Amino acid sequence: MKQPSFTIKTFGCQMNVRDSEIMAQLLAEKGYVESMEMKDADVVILNTCSIRAKAEQKAMSLLGALRKVKKRRPGMKICVAGCVAQQEGEEICRRMDYVDLVIGTQNLYELVDLLESVDGTSKVATSMSNSYEIPAFIPSMPSLTSPGGPQGATPAPSVRKFLTIMQGCNNYCTYCVVPYTRGREISRKVNDIIEEARVLVDAGVQEITLLGQNVNSYGRTNSVTAEGGEYSFALLLREVAAIEGLKRLRFTTSNPKDLSPDLMRCFSEIETLCPQFHLPVQSGSNIVLSKMNRKYTRELYLQKVAELRSFRPDISLSTDVIVGFPGETEADFEQTMEILEDVRFHSSFSFKYSDRPGTRSADFDDKVDEQVKSERLSRFQKRQDQICLEQNSLYVGKILPVMIEKVTDDGLMGRTETNHIVHIKEIIECSPGDIVSVTINHAGQHSLNGRIDSSNQ
Ligand code: 5AD
Ligand code: SF4
Repeated sequence: MKQPSFTIKTFGCQMNVRDSEIMAQLLAEKGYVESMEMKDADVVILNTCSIRAKAEQKAMSLLGALRKVKKRRPGMKICVAGCVAQQEGEEICRRMDYVDLVIGTQNLYELVDLLESVDGTSKVATSMSNSYEIPAFIPSMPSLTSPGGPQGATPAPSVRKFLTIMQGCNNYCTYCVVPYTRGREISRKVNDIIEEARVLVDAGVQEITLLGQNVNSYGRTNSVTAEGGEYSFALLLREVAAIEGLKRLRFTTSNPKDLSPDLMRCFSEIETLCPQFHLPVQSGSNIVLSKMNRKYTRELYLQKVAELRSFRPDISLSTDVIVGFPGETEADFEQTMEILEDVRFHSSFSFKYSDRPGTRSADFDDKVDEQVKSERLSRFQKRQDQICLEQNSLYVGKILPVMIEKVTDDGLMGRTETNHIVHIKEIIECSPGDIVSVTINHAGQHSLNGRIDSSNQ
């Protein structure tokens, strides 16, 4: 009998990339085979993201387009997963009766059973636990294959893997949907994380990125050791770094309010911890930060950046920024521009504020005009692009260790410790995962170019 095929389209963040891996793993265990072609797969899963309105629209428009495909092939099963599914379960089925299954962020483990019980009417499974017990949806074992990454992106190569250390978020930033779509902040047990990391390294993974909405508060809301003792993210980093054979360690993402000196010290003490930090600032205005419920000020943010740089002067910093938060004045926005000048981020992700269902800021009545938001966003991005280029130019002439990710007929693609992509138009004998010395000879806004240093020959 022919094996059923599936395809997963992933939208949004790394959390979703990891969830897609889990779904792929569950399906593969039951004999499903992955197909890259959505048009002939027996099961199509859209793993949606609702963090911003645009991310949600992208998923919903693909879902709309699937109506026609389903008409041609009524046997195909359509499943909507992820944060939009969690929040809009019933509504999706009401508006799109051709959807077979809507599965929430905490029901992933029921995926195969639910898919097999589908009978022509839409099914919804979106339960959300309120407890701090570590639930079954947190997987104990990694998948060693990678399904397709976010739309348009290539799948993560297997020398680099994500490892989820915690789920959910308790911070309730007023604009953010995550506490509602992913539930309470729950940390996985230290031993489970170490075991998973070991399995990855034994399978040839060279670089691990520890994942959580706010990794700095790892171990704070539930006990993570067998003895029930105290624990911290800095300790976890040290334990993972001690795994023999692991070449590079990264993590994401952090809330500045929880960035401790202990964690900063790790950057000068753990050799394999890459000098790269994603530290979302969101706004440079204290008034806006307070309305966002971020629980830090611009002064504290700048102080933490300075401290971090004192531990690791070559650290590359990236950030997230929201422009046009309700009530943001021109003066508030100017303060965000000032932060950009003060910190000189190596890169940033910037977004226009959008209302998200259920969040507190959706009810604020001082919304900023769409055109003003667009104008501020483009001003911010233009300046950030210049700074990216200026920062990247500082690498020209340097010899950097680059981990190779891709070997093609044209040359090599790799990544520096600071997370910069490097293109090398040379062919040498090497494989993904090898670390080679590269002389950087050109800097672009988003990547570097280099040639193999003679020390490798
Ligand atoms: N509007 C715009 N951007 C948002 N983000 C989160 N919620 C919203 C929203 N409602 C951004 C933040 C966050 C990133 C993942 O998405 O900058 O850090
Ligand atoms: Fe959302 Fe704030 Fe939690 Fe980040 S820290 S996931 S922005 S609520």
